[in-house]
Amino acid sequence: MSTVAQACEAFRILLEEQQARIAAANCEKTDFSKKEVVTVGIIDGDGIGPLIMSRAVQVLNMLLEKEIKSGSIVLKKIEGLTIENRIALGKPVPEDVLAEIKTCDVLLKGPTTTPMGGTMESANVTLRRELDLYANVRPVSIPEEGIDWVFYRENTEGEYVLGSRGIDLPGMAVDFKVTTDFGTRRIAKAAFDYAKNNGKSRVSVVTKANIMKKTDGKFTEICHQVAQDYPDISVDDWYIDIMTANLVNPAIRSGFQVVVLPNLYGDIITDEAAQLQGGVGSAGSANLGDRYAMFEAIHGSAPRMLAEGLQDYVNPASILRATVMLLRHICRQDAAQRLEQAMNRCDVTVTGDASGATCDAYMQALVQLL
Ligand code: IPM
Ligand code: MG
Repeated sequence: MSTVAQACEAFRILLEEQQARIAAANCEKTDFSKKEVVTVGIIDGDGIGPLIMSRAVQVLNMLLEKEIKSGSIVLKKIEGLTIENRIALGKPVPEDVLAEIKTCDVLLKGPTTTPMGGTMESANVTLRRELDLYANVRPVSIPEEGIDWVFYRENTEGEYVLGSRGIDLPGMAVDFKVTTDFGTRRIAKAAFDYAKNNGKSRVSVVTKANIMKKTDGKFTEICHQVAQDYPDISVDDWYIDIMTANLVNPAIRSGFQVVVLPNLYGDIITDEAAQLQGGVGSAGSANLGDRYAMFEAIHGSAPRMLAEGLQDYVNPASILRATVMLLRHICRQDAAQRLEQAMNRCDVTVTGDASGATCDAYMQALVQLL
Protein backbone atom coordinates (compact mmCIF):
# COMPACT_ATOMS: atom_id res chain seq x y z
CA MET A 1 0.00 0.00 0.00
CA SER A 2 1.49 3.34 -1.04
CA THR A 3 1.07 6.82 0.35
CA VAL A 4 0.36 9.55 -2.19
CA ALA A 5 3.99 10.66 -1.99
CA GLN A 6 5.22 7.12 -2.64
CA ALA A 7 2.76 6.77 -5.53
CA CYS A 8 4.06 9.97 -7.10
CA GLU A 9 7.62 8.67 -6.83
CA ALA A 10 6.60 5.33 -8.37
CA PHE A 11 4.83 7.20 -11.18
CA ARG A 12 7.92 9.30 -11.86
CA ILE A 13 9.99 6.14 -12.26
CA LEU A 14 7.43 4.63 -14.62
CA LEU A 15 7.39 7.73 -16.78
CA GLU A 16 11.18 7.77 -17.01
CA GLU A 17 11.24 4.09 -17.92
CA GLN A 18 8.73 4.69 -20.68
CA GLN A 19 10.76 7.58 -22.04
CA ALA A 20 13.81 5.32 -22.06
CA ARG A 21 11.81 2.69 -23.95
CA ILE A 22 10.97 5.21 -26.64
CA ALA A 23 14.59 6.28 -26.90
CA ALA A 24 15.84 2.69 -27.21
CA ALA A 25 13.36 1.65 -29.90
CA ASN A 26 14.08 0.75 -33.49
CA CYS A 27 16.05 -2.10 -34.94
CA GLU A 28 16.68 -3.54 -38.38
CA LYS A 29 14.14 -5.79 -40.02
CA THR A 30 15.04 -9.45 -40.46
CA ASP A 31 14.89 -10.36 -44.15
CA PHE A 32 13.89 -14.02 -44.24
CA SER A 33 14.24 -14.29 -48.00
CA LYS A 34 17.99 -13.80 -47.53
CA LYS A 35 18.56 -15.80 -44.36
CA GLU A 36 20.49 -19.04 -44.85
CA VAL A 37 19.33 -20.67 -41.65
CA VAL A 38 16.01 -19.93 -39.99
CA THR A 39 15.66 -21.11 -36.40
CA VAL A 40 12.12 -21.76 -35.25
CA GLY A 41 11.79 -21.96 -31.45
CA ILE A 42 9.18 -24.44 -30.27
CA ILE A 43 7.54 -23.60 -26.95
CA ASP A 44 4.92 -26.06 -25.73
CA GLY A 45 3.22 -23.86 -23.13
CA ASP A 46 0.84 -25.00 -20.40
CA GLY A 47 -2.46 -26.86 -20.16
CA ILE A 48 -3.54 -28.02 -23.60
CA GLY A 49 -0.43 -26.36 -25.09
CA PRO A 50 1.72 -29.50 -25.39
CA LEU A 51 -1.22 -31.38 -26.96
CA ILE A 52 -1.78 -28.92 -29.79
CA MET A 53 1.91 -28.07 -30.21
CA SER A 54 2.86 -31.69 -30.85
CA ARG A 55 0.42 -31.65 -33.80
CA ALA A 56 1.84 -28.40 -35.14
CA VAL A 57 5.38 -29.78 -34.92
CA GLN A 58 4.25 -32.94 -36.72
CA VAL A 59 2.93 -30.75 -39.55
CA LEU A 60 6.09 -28.61 -39.68
CA ASN A 61 8.21 -31.74 -39.89
CA MET A 62 6.10 -32.96 -42.81
CA LEU A 63 6.02 -29.70 -44.73
CA LEU A 64 9.65 -28.74 -44.19
CA GLU A 65 11.19 -32.20 -44.25
CA LYS A 66 13.86 -31.39 -46.85
CA GLU A 67 14.85 -28.07 -45.34
CA ILE A 68 15.04 -29.53 -41.86
CA LYS A 69 17.29 -32.32 -43.18
CA SER A 70 19.55 -29.89 -45.01
CA GLY A 71 19.73 -27.61 -41.97
CA SER A 72 18.29 -24.47 -43.57
CA ILE A 73 15.46 -24.68 -41.07
CA VAL A 74 16.08 -25.66 -37.46
CA LEU A 75 13.26 -26.53 -35.09
CA LYS A 76 14.62 -25.79 -31.64
CA LYS A 77 12.72 -26.94 -28.58
CA ILE A 78 12.72 -24.31 -25.81
CA GLU A 79 12.23 -25.79 -22.34
CA GLY A 80 11.34 -24.09 -19.09
CA LEU A 81 8.48 -21.77 -20.00
CA THR A 82 6.06 -23.74 -17.87
CA ILE A 83 3.82 -22.24 -15.21
CA GLU A 84 5.51 -24.49 -12.58
CA ASN A 85 9.00 -23.26 -13.45
CA ARG A 86 7.87 -19.65 -13.78
CA ILE A 87 6.21 -19.72 -10.36
CA ALA A 88 9.19 -21.53 -8.75
CA LEU A 89 11.58 -18.87 -10.07
CA GLY A 90 9.12 -16.00 -9.60
CA LYS A 91 9.76 -14.87 -13.19
CA PRO A 92 7.25 -14.59 -16.04
CA VAL A 93 10.04 -15.61 -18.44
CA PRO A 94 13.17 -16.94 -16.66
CA GLU A 95 16.40 -15.30 -17.88
CA ASP A 96 17.93 -18.47 -19.30
CA VAL A 97 14.73 -19.21 -21.19
CA LEU A 98 14.67 -15.70 -22.63
CA ALA A 99 18.32 -16.06 -23.69
CA GLU A 100 17.46 -19.32 -25.52
CA ILE A 101 14.48 -17.67 -27.14
CA LYS A 102 16.66 -14.85 -28.42
CA THR A 103 18.82 -17.35 -30.31
CA CYS A 104 15.76 -18.10 -32.49
CA ASP A 105 14.34 -16.04 -35.34
CA VAL A 106 10.70 -16.92 -34.89
CA LEU A 107 8.71 -18.81 -32.27
CA LEU A 108 5.76 -21.12 -32.39
CA LYS A 109 4.25 -21.04 -28.94
CA GLY A 110 1.50 -22.91 -27.16
CA PRO A 111 -0.68 -20.96 -24.71
CA THR A 112 0.90 -20.14 -21.36
CA THR A 113 -1.11 -19.80 -18.17
CA THR A 114 -1.31 -16.33 -16.61
CA PRO A 115 -1.76 -16.32 -12.84
CA MET A 116 -4.65 -14.06 -11.83
CA GLY A 117 -3.90 -11.32 -9.31
CA GLY A 118 -0.50 -11.04 -7.62
CA THR A 119 2.23 -9.21 -9.49
CA MET A 120 3.50 -11.92 -11.85
CA GLU A 121 3.24 -10.63 -15.40
CA SER A 122 1.84 -12.83 -18.16
CA ALA A 123 4.60 -14.64 -20.11
CA ASN A 124 2.95 -13.39 -23.29
CA VAL A 125 3.14 -9.79 -22.26
CA THR A 126 6.78 -10.19 -21.18
CA LEU A 127 7.74 -11.85 -24.46
CA ARG A 128 5.92 -9.27 -26.54
CA ARG A 129 7.78 -6.55 -24.69
CA GLU A 130 11.23 -8.19 -24.52
CA LEU A 131 11.15 -9.13 -28.22
CA ASP A 132 9.38 -5.88 -29.15
CA LEU A 133 6.60 -7.71 -30.98
CA TYR A 134 4.51 -4.66 -31.64
CA ALA A 135 1.97 -5.92 -34.16
CA ASN A 136 -0.52 -8.56 -33.14
CA VAL A 137 -2.07 -9.70 -36.42
CA ARG A 138 -5.26 -11.75 -36.21
CA PRO A 139 -7.09 -12.73 -39.39
CA VAL A 140 -10.67 -13.92 -39.27
CA SER A 141 -12.47 -15.15 -42.33
CA ILE A 142 -15.98 -16.49 -42.92
CA PRO A 143 -16.03 -16.97 -46.69
CA GLU A 144 -19.70 -17.90 -46.93
CA GLU A 145 -20.57 -14.51 -45.45
CA GLY A 146 -18.01 -12.53 -47.39
CA ILE A 147 -16.08 -11.79 -44.19
CA ASP A 148 -12.34 -11.36 -44.48
CA TRP A 149 -11.04 -9.31 -41.58
CA VAL A 150 -7.50 -8.71 -40.42
CA PHE A 151 -7.02 -7.09 -37.04
CA TYR A 152 -3.83 -5.15 -36.35
CA ARG A 153 -3.74 -4.93 -32.58
CA GLU A 154 -1.03 -2.77 -31.01
CA ASN A 155 0.81 -5.25 -28.85
CA THR A 156 3.34 -3.52 -26.60
CA GLU A 157 1.57 -0.50 -25.13
CA GLY A 158 -1.81 0.61 -23.83
CA GLU A 159 -3.05 -0.94 -20.58
CA TYR A 160 -0.62 -3.83 -20.98
CA VAL A 161 2.76 -2.17 -20.75
CA LEU A 162 2.34 -1.26 -17.07
CA GLY A 163 -0.40 -3.73 -16.30
CA SER A 164 1.60 -5.33 -13.49
CA ARG A 165 2.91 -2.00 -12.19
CA GLY A 166 -0.26 -0.37 -10.94
CA ILE A 167 -0.37 1.30 -7.54
CA ASP A 168 -2.45 0.44 -4.48
CA LEU A 169 -3.35 3.34 -2.23
CA PRO A 170 -5.66 3.26 0.78
CA GLY A 171 -9.16 2.68 -0.57
CA MET A 172 -8.19 2.77 -4.25
CA ALA A 173 -6.07 1.25 -6.97
CA VAL A 174 -4.60 2.94 -10.04
CA ASP A 175 -3.42 1.37 -13.29
CA PHE A 176 -1.85 3.15 -16.23
CA LYS A 177 -2.35 3.29 -19.96
CA VAL A 178 0.49 4.42 -22.20
CA THR A 179 0.29 5.41 -25.87
CA THR A 180 3.38 6.71 -27.65
CA ASP A 181 3.81 8.41 -30.99
CA PHE A 182 6.34 5.89 -32.24
CA GLY A 183 4.34 2.91 -30.96
CA THR A 184 1.20 4.12 -32.69
CA ARG A 185 2.95 5.13 -35.90
CA ARG A 186 4.53 1.71 -36.36
CA ILE A 187 1.30 -0.25 -35.81
CA ALA A 188 -0.61 2.11 -38.09
CA LYS A 189 2.08 1.75 -40.75
CA ALA A 190 1.97 -2.04 -40.42
CA ALA A 191 -1.82 -2.02 -40.90
CA PHE A 192 -1.76 0.32 -43.89
CA ASP A 193 1.17 -1.54 -45.47
CA TYR A 194 -0.75 -4.78 -45.11
CA ALA A 195 -3.80 -3.18 -46.73
CA LYS A 196 -1.73 -1.77 -49.58
CA ASN A 197 0.15 -5.00 -50.26
CA ASN A 198 -2.94 -7.16 -50.14
CA GLY A 199 -5.34 -5.20 -52.30
CA LYS A 200 -7.45 -3.88 -49.43
CA SER A 201 -9.14 -0.50 -49.78
CA ARG A 202 -10.22 0.27 -46.24
CA VAL A 203 -8.67 0.55 -42.78
CA SER A 204 -10.89 1.10 -39.74
CA VAL A 205 -9.44 2.74 -36.64
CA VAL A 206 -11.10 1.63 -33.40
CA THR A 207 -10.65 3.44 -30.07
CA LYS A 208 -12.64 4.99 -27.27
CA ALA A 209 -11.24 8.45 -27.92
CA ASN A 210 -14.39 10.13 -26.64
CA ILE A 211 -13.47 8.90 -23.14
CA MET A 212 -9.73 8.07 -23.25
CA LYS A 213 -9.02 11.47 -24.68
CA LYS A 214 -5.24 11.65 -24.41
CA THR A 215 -4.14 8.12 -25.27
CA ASP A 216 -6.84 7.09 -27.73
CA GLY A 217 -6.96 10.64 -29.03
CA LYS A 218 -3.30 10.32 -29.94
CA PHE A 219 -3.87 6.89 -31.45
CA THR A 220 -6.61 8.24 -33.75
CA GLU A 221 -4.66 11.32 -34.73
CA ILE A 222 -1.51 9.39 -35.64
CA CYS A 223 -3.43 6.76 -37.61
CA HIS A 224 -4.88 9.59 -39.70
CA GLN A 225 -1.43 11.10 -40.20
CA VAL A 226 -0.11 7.75 -41.41
CA ALA A 227 -3.17 7.32 -43.65
CA GLN A 228 -2.09 10.35 -45.66
CA ASP A 229 0.76 8.28 -47.09
CA TYR A 230 -1.82 5.81 -48.47
CA PRO A 231 -4.13 7.89 -50.66
CA ASP A 232 -5.79 4.83 -52.22
CA ILE A 233 -6.95 3.47 -48.88
CA SER A 234 -9.95 4.92 -47.10
CA VAL A 235 -9.92 5.30 -43.35
CA ASP A 236 -12.83 5.41 -40.94
CA ASP A 237 -13.17 5.68 -37.16
CA TRP A 238 -15.29 3.72 -34.74
CA TYR A 239 -15.58 3.53 -31.00
CA ILE A 240 -14.92 0.11 -29.56
CA ASP A 241 -18.43 -0.32 -28.13
CA ILE A 242 -20.25 0.18 -31.41
CA MET A 243 -17.54 -1.76 -33.25
CA THR A 244 -18.30 -4.71 -30.99
CA ALA A 245 -21.90 -4.45 -32.17
CA ASN A 246 -20.83 -3.96 -35.80
CA LEU A 247 -19.12 -7.34 -35.86
CA VAL A 248 -22.44 -9.04 -35.15
CA ASN A 249 -24.40 -6.77 -37.49
CA PRO A 250 -24.91 -8.72 -40.74
CA ALA A 251 -25.92 -5.53 -42.56
CA ILE A 252 -22.44 -4.00 -42.39
CA ARG A 253 -19.91 -6.43 -41.01
CA SER A 254 -18.65 -7.84 -44.28
CA GLY A 255 -17.57 -4.33 -45.28
CA PHE A 256 -14.75 -4.21 -42.76
CA GLN A 257 -11.33 -5.19 -44.04
CA VAL A 258 -8.36 -4.14 -41.93
CA VAL A 259 -8.92 -2.94 -38.36
CA VAL A 260 -6.22 -1.18 -36.35
CA LEU A 261 -6.67 -0.69 -32.64
CA PRO A 262 -4.94 -0.30 -29.27
CA ASN A 263 -3.91 -3.31 -27.25
CA LEU A 264 -6.78 -4.02 -24.85
CA TYR A 265 -9.60 -3.35 -27.32
CA GLY A 266 -7.77 -5.58 -29.79
CA ASP A 267 -7.52 -8.33 -27.21
CA ILE A 268 -11.24 -8.29 -26.54
CA ILE A 269 -12.64 -7.81 -30.01
CA THR A 270 -10.45 -10.48 -31.61
CA ASP A 271 -11.93 -13.09 -29.28
CA GLU A 272 -15.37 -11.96 -30.44
CA ALA A 273 -14.30 -12.13 -34.09
CA ALA A 274 -12.72 -15.56 -33.62
CA GLN A 275 -15.90 -16.81 -31.98
CA LEU A 276 -17.90 -15.75 -35.04
CA GLN A 277 -15.53 -17.70 -37.24
CA GLY A 278 -15.86 -20.96 -35.31
CA GLY A 279 -14.57 -20.39 -31.81
CA VAL A 280 -11.36 -19.12 -30.27
CA GLY A 281 -9.90 -22.53 -31.11
CA SER A 282 -10.11 -21.63 -34.79
CA ALA A 283 -8.05 -18.46 -35.10
CA GLY A 284 -4.31 -17.96 -35.32
CA SER A 285 -2.31 -15.04 -34.07
CA ALA A 286 0.99 -13.51 -35.15
CA ASN A 287 3.07 -11.25 -32.92
CA LEU A 288 5.38 -9.39 -35.26
CA GLY A 289 8.39 -7.24 -34.49
CA ASP A 290 11.13 -6.03 -36.78
CA ARG A 291 13.63 -8.62 -35.61
CA TYR A 292 11.62 -11.43 -33.97
CA ALA A 293 8.15 -12.85 -34.46
CA MET A 294 6.03 -15.19 -32.37
CA PHE A 295 3.09 -17.21 -33.61
CA GLU A 296 0.49 -18.65 -31.30
CA ALA A 297 -3.06 -19.77 -30.80
CA ILE A 298 -5.45 -16.94 -29.97
CA HIS A 299 -6.84 -18.85 -26.98
CA GLY A 300 -5.51 -19.63 -23.52
CA SER A 301 -4.21 -22.85 -21.97
CA ALA A 302 -7.75 -24.13 -21.22
CA PRO A 303 -7.05 -25.89 -17.89
CA ARG A 304 -10.83 -26.47 -17.69
CA MET A 305 -10.66 -28.83 -20.67
CA LEU A 306 -8.04 -30.95 -18.92
CA ALA A 307 -9.93 -30.89 -15.61
CA GLU A 308 -13.05 -32.12 -17.39
CA GLY A 309 -11.19 -34.91 -19.15
CA LEU A 310 -11.64 -33.35 -22.61
CA GLN A 311 -7.98 -33.68 -23.66
CA ASP A 312 -8.87 -35.79 -26.71
CA TYR A 313 -11.11 -33.01 -28.03
CA VAL A 314 -8.59 -30.15 -28.10
CA ASN A 315 -8.73 -28.16 -31.32
CA PRO A 316 -5.35 -27.80 -33.07
CA ALA A 317 -6.80 -25.42 -35.71
CA SER A 318 -5.75 -22.23 -33.97
CA ILE A 319 -2.09 -23.20 -33.61
CA LEU A 320 -2.13 -24.58 -37.16
CA ARG A 321 -3.50 -21.27 -38.49
CA ALA A 322 -0.64 -19.64 -36.59
CA THR A 323 1.72 -22.10 -38.28
CA VAL A 324 0.45 -20.94 -41.69
CA MET A 325 1.25 -17.37 -40.69
CA LEU A 326 4.70 -18.40 -39.47
CA LEU A 327 5.50 -20.14 -42.76
CA ARG A 328 4.41 -17.05 -44.72
CA HIS A 329 6.48 -14.81 -42.47
CA ILE A 330 9.66 -16.81 -43.13
CA CYS A 331 8.92 -16.76 -46.87
CA ARG A 332 7.94 -20.43 -47.16
CA GLN A 333 4.90 -19.60 -49.30
CA ASP A 334 4.45 -23.07 -50.78
CA ALA A 335 4.38 -24.80 -47.43
CA ALA A 336 2.05 -22.12 -46.06
CA GLN A 337 -0.34 -22.58 -48.95
CA ARG A 338 -0.31 -26.35 -48.70
CA LEU A 339 -1.27 -26.22 -45.05
CA GLU A 340 -3.84 -23.48 -45.52
CA GLN A 341 -5.55 -25.26 -48.39
CA ALA A 342 -5.58 -28.57 -46.55
CA MET A 343 -7.15 -26.85 -43.53
CA ASN A 344 -9.77 -25.11 -45.67
CA ARG A 345 -10.68 -28.42 -47.31
CA CYS A 346 -10.69 -30.49 -44.13
CA ASP A 347 -14.31 -31.17 -43.20
CA VAL A 348 -13.73 -32.73 -39.79
CA THR A 349 -15.04 -30.29 -37.17
CA VAL A 350 -13.49 -30.11 -33.74
CA THR A 351 -15.59 -28.15 -31.26
CA GLY A 352 -13.48 -28.51 -28.13
CA ASP A 353 -16.00 -30.83 -26.49
CA ALA A 354 -17.45 -34.29 -27.00
CA SER A 355 -20.03 -32.94 -29.48
CA GLY A 356 -17.29 -32.61 -32.07
CA ALA A 357 -14.54 -34.74 -33.52
CA THR A 358 -11.36 -35.64 -31.66
CA CYS A 359 -8.07 -33.95 -32.35
CA ASP A 360 -6.72 -37.25 -33.70
CA ALA A 361 -9.59 -37.61 -36.17
CA TYR A 362 -8.97 -34.07 -37.41
CA MET A 363 -5.22 -34.68 -37.77
CA GLN A 364 -5.74 -37.91 -39.68
CA ALA A 365 -7.98 -36.13 -42.19
CA LEU A 366 -5.60 -33.18 -42.44
CA VAL A 367 -2.51 -35.28 -43.02
CA GLN A 368 -4.34 -37.06 -45.88
CA LEU A 369 -4.99 -33.71 -47.50
CA LEU A 370 -1.44 -32.39 -47.13
C1 IPM B 1 -4.19 -12.92 -26.10
C2 IPM B 1 -4.31 -13.34 -24.67
C3 IPM B 1 -3.25 -12.62 -23.86
C4 IPM B 1 -3.55 -11.15 -23.90
C5 IPM B 1 -3.09 -13.09 -22.42
C6 IPM B 1 -2.80 -14.56 -22.37
C7 IPM B 1 -2.06 -12.31 -21.70
O1 IPM B 1 -5.59 -13.11 -24.20
O2 IPM B 1 -3.14 -13.15 -26.71
O3 IPM B 1 -5.15 -12.36 -26.62
O4 IPM B 1 -4.31 -10.63 -23.08
O5 IPM B 1 -3.03 -10.50 -24.79
MG1 MG C 1 -6.95 -12.43 -25.66
